[in-house]
Formats: sequence, structure tokens, C-alpha cells
Amino acid sequence: MIHHDSEHRLWVLSGPSSSYVLHLDEADRPRVLHWGPRLTPEQAASLLLRLPRPGFRPVEDPLEGSFDLVATGGLCYGQAGLQVRFADGTRDLELVFTGQRRTDRELVLAYADRHYPLAVECHYRLYGDVIERHLVLCNEGEPVTVVRADSATWVLPRLDGYRLSSVRGQWGAETRLHRAELPYGETVLTSRRGVTSHQANPWAMVDDGTAGEEHGAVYSCALAWSGSWRLTAQRLPTERVTLSAGAGHDPVTWELGTGEELVTPVCAGLYTEGGFGAASRAWHDHQLRHVLPHPGEIRPVLYNSWEATGFDVSLDGQIRLAESAARMGVELFVVDDGWFGARTHDAAGLGDWYPSPHRFPDGLGPLIDRVHELGMRFGLWVEPEMVNPDSDLYRAHPDWVIHRPHRTRTEHRNQLVLDLSRPEVGDWLYRTLDELLSKNAIDFLKWDMNRPFTEAGPDDRLWLGHVHTLYDVLDRLRAAHPHVRIESCSSGGGRVDLGILRRTDQVWTSDNTDALDRLDIQHGFSQLYPARVMGAWVTDSPNPYTGREIPLDFRFHVAMAGVLAIGGALTEWSRADLDRAAELVADYKRIRPLVQHGRQYRLRPPDGELSAVQYLASDGREAAVLVYRRARRFGHADPGIPLRALDPDARYRDTATGEVHHGAVLLTHGLFPDLAPGDYASALVHLVRE
Ligand code: DGJ
Repeated sequence: MIHHDSEHRLWVLSGPSSSYVLHLDEADRPRVLHWGPRLTPEQAASLLLRLPRPGFRPVEDPLEGSFDLVATGGLCYGQAGLQVRFADGTRDLELVFTGQRRTDRELVLAYADRHYPLAVECHYRLYGDVIERHLVLCNEGEPVTVVRADSATWVLPRLDGYRLSSVRGQWGAETRLHRAELPYGETVLTSRRGVTSHQANPWAMVDDGTAGEEHGAVYSCALAWSGSWRLTAQRLPTERVTLSAGAGHDPVTWELGTGEELVTPVCAGLYTEGGFGAASRAWHDHQLRHVLPHPGEIRPVLYNSWEATGFDVSLDGQIRLAESAARMGVELFVVDDGWFGARTHDAAGLGDWYPSPHRFPDGLGPLIDRVHELGMRFGLWVEPEMVNPDSDLYRAHPDWVIHRPHRTRTEHRNQLVLDLSRPEVGDWLYRTLDELLSKNAIDFLKWDMNRPFTEAGPDDRLWLGHVHTLYDVLDRLRAAHPHVRIESCSSGGGRVDLGILRRTDQVWTSDNTDALDRLDIQHGFSQLYPARVMGAWVTDSPNPYTGREIPLDFRFHVAMAGVLAIGGALTEWSRADLDRAAELVADYKRIRPLVQHGRQYRLRPPDGELSAVQYLASDGREAAVLVYRRARRFGHADPGIPLRALDPDARYRDTATGEVHHGAVLLTHGLFPDLAPGDYASALVHLVRE
């Protein structure tokens, strides 16, 4: 709820356990007085008495780094989330407060420049303890260049120390958790690629350096944007810290014409206690309740043909895989790359979204019918933002790609990016996919995006425009084909963020399907994103990418920590492996409501010998625990794994062995799963409260 104290120009935005307190000072600057545990309006108002007394003038400006809207101008030398250049070259903004609009959950604080007709609105929306914030800029004067318009600048209180948690990565090694002291100055996490990126992900968490998985206060924010972005964590010498995030990157700017409006994406902020585990669970809960389009659904067990066939796609081959997958218990069969146009390798066909006349002379109908007959849903891979120069589309419209006249058209994976900011390209994209979905009984699209932007221009607007069109096309396709579900993919996990998750149902986490590497990738992924969206395939051993040999059970148990899928060459698997796989798929189906909709507890991180993750039903009646021993050292006995959030007075029955455990013992001494001796041993334990 949102409380306003007009006498003190104070707003208190409170969720069930936290409050954010804003005060408009005499210069109309929105000062953050508090972000932390919940305060009553009276307690919040008392903070005004604690502001520095007039006459006390320390050497440094004590207010720098304490405003939730920071524009360039005056004596502001720190990081400014709002930067513009007016037509006459003026860069300083002088904002005056012009009013507010407010409901129980929404607040708009409106400002305007004192001279130039530019209005700036700060929008806040409360979802429990999550505060979504964005800006709306409206220009009634001569064109203004928007250099930076961060959706939010989050102001942290004074802490004894500052530690930044974020993820770093690369193709095949996404979302690897990095936790280190926040250096003085500005730490910039960014993507300049036109897509969210493998290298960084648009979220950050800050704690005082002492928080653990289960204890401590954590301040976090996440940006809902799937193009290039930047998040600046600023630590001033005065020990003030801000996190400021928005769409765009240096040196891209946005021309705001007369009468035009710029609405930034949302950046959400969250204060939690109870360590990184509680912060992650709060983010998962937020996405399950307020971000995902079909949050209540259970994601089906999926089969994807990519690792089995590569580009060697044929009707018979796909049917053989589908029959094998159906016997294993798969519920959704997805044909990956290679089904369309002249796509027999990665140098041709992108852009020509009709079934290959050689491979599917009667269209996709016979394959789709067979998949449906087998009791599975049918999914299809597309990469519709791209074109190969060797394609009918490119030959007809060479000007549709992002390019500059006197520059090389840099190819990456032999492909170029379509400029979706051009209206005719956006129209073509929608029409093409709408026709594909209308003519074929497709239940699921895997929407891929395999290369970053190059030679973008002349108008910088395309960096934002591309993403706006992408969102618009996804929204329209969903409305026109409400039964279709969509997976976001970008060479693995290159487009995972709260913006794309508002429009898709799951994501492809990484092209690296090696179960050992996956433990790290999934650990980092889970810091912000829920298991309900994390696509995880079981593939062949040795792994085609890393060459590592890992037993089938371990591979399955790792993939069961998300949305289980199979991606192996099933026609090569032994009878014994196929039978065992069917048992493991059945095991997963029993626990998947817990994995996909329960609360996740990271019991032991994946960097040691033994790691484990627990999923607890929201009513606490069932728990699933996945345990992994990557390597046994020195013949040591495995330690017990204390579980979390069980009822100490209750008893829990292991559904496989029938053994009954006391809650109090599981919480303290822990679970001792029956792991096979040796390396790559794993177990799934399903506990039901008696
Ligand atoms: C990249 C994806 O991440 C893979 O899963 C696969 O779909 C290929 N593209 C196909 O080209």
C-alpha cells in the first residue's frame, strides 16, 4: 500500500515486509529516506528529524547518491540515470515537481523542466515487496536527445560494507554467479549486443558482505528488457551506493521529437531478509504471480531434436525420434533447425519460413499428425529475426537487414539481423508467423536469436525499436493463437530477462548440456529466475560439447531441477537406457509440481563434492530433494544434508523406501541419501508429510 503525507511531502510504499520512503526536498529532489524493513507512516515521518542539521557542512555533499531520480545538472557529479541534450545544446535539467497521481498500489510523481517543455514522470507499482519503477518522458518542445533514461535508480542505506552479486558468462557458460566486494567508482554491467546477452544478465544484488544463503539483508533489482542495457552499481567515496538500470548502452541515444513520448521498460527493486535464498524465492514468486503469461501451468516434458540430428532433418527420422520419445513419456516433441527452405546447413534458408519441399514434400502435416497421434504436442524451431544472404527473403529485400551503406555487412553464423524497427519488416514478421501457425497445428514455438547486432544505424532508435516490435509481434501472436506456448532461446541463454518472460513460457538455459557444467549454470540461473522456466535437456554421453561421460541418472537428476527435457539421439540409446529413462521421466512427473511451483532451497552450492537443492510444496506437505556427488574425495563418507522449512514436529515418509523421518532430525542432522559409491552419484528423494 502507498501512504502520502502531504505536509512533509513524504510517500511510504510498503509491501508485507518492506518499505520504501521518499521525501521531496525543498529543491524538489526525491530523496530516499529508507529502503528496508517495513515502517509505519509515523515511523517513516520521524526520519525527517534525522536529516543533517542546517549549518552542518561536511566536505562532501552528503546528499549525493541519495535521490531516486538523478538528472544531470547543477552540482551533480555522480552517476545520473537521466541525461538529455536539448536542441540548443543545454545538458542540465532543472526539474520541478508538478504533481502526483496515486492509488493503493500505484504512484506517479510528475516533474517538468523549469524552462524547456519536457515532462518526466516516475511510475511506481507495488507487487508485494517488489516495486516496479519506470519513467515516461514527454517532449512538447524542439527535439531532445535522450542520452540515458534509466528505469530506476535504487538507493541503498549506509551499510558496513557492500558486496555485489551478479552473473557473468559466455556462450555455453551462462549465468555463472559472481559475488565480490563492490569497488569504489562505477561498476557497469551491460550488453551492447541488441540482445540481453550471455555475458551478463540485467540484475544485481547487494548485501553488506555478511549475508549467506539463509541469513542477511539483500537489496536487489532486475530490468525487464531484452535489448541492450546497462546497470551501474555506484559506490561513492562517501559510502553511498546506488543501482541504476535502464535500456540502451553507450553511446546510443534516442531522439525524442516534438510531441513524442518515451516509456522506459520496468526495473523492479526488492528488499528481503533471510539471505540470498529468500531473495531468490521472492523473485521466483514474483515471476510466477505477476510476470509469466500462464503461471499456473505445468510445463510438459519436452523432446528436442537438435543434438540428435543437427541439420539432417527428415520426416522418417523425426518420426522415429518421436516414437521413441513418446514411449519414454515425453509430452511435447520439438523439431529444431533444418525443416524449412533450403536449410541443410547454417549458410542458407533463414528467412524462408515454409517447409523444405525436398524434406517435407507434403508439408509438415504428416509429421504433426503423427506426433499428435502419439499423444504429444508439436513444437517447431524458428529464428524469425534473422536472414541468411542465401535466402529468397534476402534476395527480395536486401535492404531489410541492419546495415550501413559504406560498411561491411558483418556476418555471424552466416546470417544478418532483420531491422524490426522498420514497419514493413515488423508486418512481414507477424504475417509470416501468423500464417505458419494458422496453416499448421503447432502448439509450441522455440524462438531463437543467434547473433548480435552490427553496423546498426543510422537512427539509434532501432536498438529500442527492434525490441518493441519483437514484443509487439509476440503479444499479437499470443492473442491470435492463445494455445501456442513459446520458448525464448538465443544461442542458449542469451535472451533471458523479465521482459521476455512476460511474453514467453520458458527459456533455453544454455547450449551446454553437460550435467556437471549445468550445475553451475543452473545455480546462477536460480538466483533470479524460477525452475518453472528453466529448460534442461538430458543429452548423450559423452557430451557432444565437452566430451565428458556422465551416467544417465546423474544427467536426469540435474535436468529434473528445471523443466525436464530430452535432447539425445534416442535411436542410438541402448534398450536399458531407454527403459531407465522412462522410469526417470515418470519420477519427474511425480515431483514436477514441486519443482515448477514449489519454493526452492539451494541446500549446498555446486562448488563442493556434494551439492543439493530442495523444492517444497507451497502448503509444505511434500518436498523433493535432488542430491549430486560430483567426485568422491579420499573415500570420505557423505555428510548429512540438512533440509529447510519443514515442520520440526511432523514426520515425512520417503515415497521410494517407505522410511519415515522426523522433521526435526531432517532440519538438523539432515538427509543421508543412498548414493552409489564413486563419482557422479545422484539421488532424488521425495518426501511426503504423514
Ligand atoms: C541455437 C540454439 O541454442 C540451439 O538449441 C539450436 O536451436 C540451434 N540454435 C539451431 O540452429
